[in-house]
Amino acid sequence: MLSWDEFDKEDGAEAAAPKQTAAQASADMSLDKLNQVGGNAALEARAIDASDSDAVARAKKALNDLDIQEGLDDLEGASGRVEVGDKQMINARADLNQLVPFKYDWAWQKYLDGCANHWMPQEVNMNADIALWKSTDGLSEDERRIVMRNLGFFSTADSLVANNLVLAVYRLITNPECRQYILRQAFEEAIHTHAYQYCIESLGMDEGEIFNMYHEIPSVAKKASWGLKYTRSISDPKFETGTPETDRQFLKNLIAYYCVLEGIFFYCGFTQILSMGRRNKMTGTAEQFQYILRDESMHLNFGIDVINQIKIENPSLWDAQMKDEATQMILQGAQLEIEYARDTMPRGVLGMNAAMMEDYLKFIANRRLTQIGLKEEYPGASNPFPWMSEIMDLKKEKNFFETRVIEYQTGGALSWD
Ligand SMILES: [Fe+2]
Ligand SMILES: [Fe+2]
Repeated sequence: MLSWDEFDKEDGAEAAAPKQTAAQASADMSLDKLNQVGGNAALEARAIDASDSDAVARAKKALNDLDIQEGLDDLEGASGRVEVGDKQMINARADLNQLVPFKYDWAWQKYLDGCANHWMPQEVNMNADIALWKSTDGLSEDERRIVMRNLGFFSTADSLVANNLVLAVYRLITNPECRQYILRQAFEEAIHTHAYQYCIESLGMDEGEIFNMYHEIPSVAKKASWGLKYTRSISDPKFETGTPETDRQFLKNLIAYYCVLEGIFFYCGFTQILSMGRRNKMTGTAEQFQYILRDESMHLNFGIDVINQIKIENPSLWDAQMKDEATQMILQGAQLEIEYARDTMPRGVLGMNAAMMEDYLKFIANRRLTQIGLKEEYPGASNPFPWMSEIMDLKKEKNFFETRVIEYQTGGALSWD
């Protein structure tokens, strides 16, 4: 175990230093004094002497020539201490490297919750899945089709989400606590892609076939290309928000990715695989999907909060035209997912069929519409799979982790001996 006492004891230089009174110590801590002492010490350490090699001498000279002000001027946001009132979701001028004071406590809380739910794909036992997948009579053709199609869709969909997040969204959200969550989300997307790869590898599937479904299978390709349409413009490094038109473009990207990709496109596949797990089939794969679904429901909630906050801070963006476009996007997403349900379930399977899934997707689309303040478009749609909400319910979190095969090692492998 780490103990700082040991380090203190061994620090001879510190021990030999003359004793100071508390008052003296606090006077010495004044920032000006520290700056002066630190500055002098740095200059001394940087003095070039005869023993320095050419490379070391050049490194010291480069630091002597460094203009600190130039570096500070390059930082995003204005310099100076940040007040909560300076913070904004988009187009903020406040320094983006100062995490606190928080303006959006919910974003920080989601970051903490995401970290508390950390998991890794290798922790899930895949032995039963491997045996079932390799047996000739364990799964029906329709069930195999569901496993293949969903691994095909998800193995690339999570990459699309991660790329959009890191290459486009992160830069344009001008709030440090939200960026902190986005970094956590980005890692979770990497874990999800890892999980799909882990399933594909464990089951000995044809990797080329699975990873190319988003080019080759129409119902998968359409969903991927629909999402990519909304990334194209804003992932241009020259794209900037700050005009009503570009702000709307960014808002549409957030709706496309959070409400449609993560909020609708994942739901048919999640329901199918989890239904399989509930029937004691492909339980390892289903457990991976269960963890992923829990992460995804947090991503979705974060995205909804961001979208609604942007609307609050920029009410003029949310005009009749924007509302109509947002509604259209969610309805198109629901339609594509209904088509995917039909392609993946040509017949009834696992106690469900395409018609039930259509009802469920309309129910989900109504939820997405109302979550961002739009009206429902599928009156009377009901939820035929109430168990899905139970799985997503975070209160279930304790039971969730009881199925883990190994404990997550929080720093357990670290040793300073
Ligand atoms: Fe994901
Ligand atoms: Fe996600």
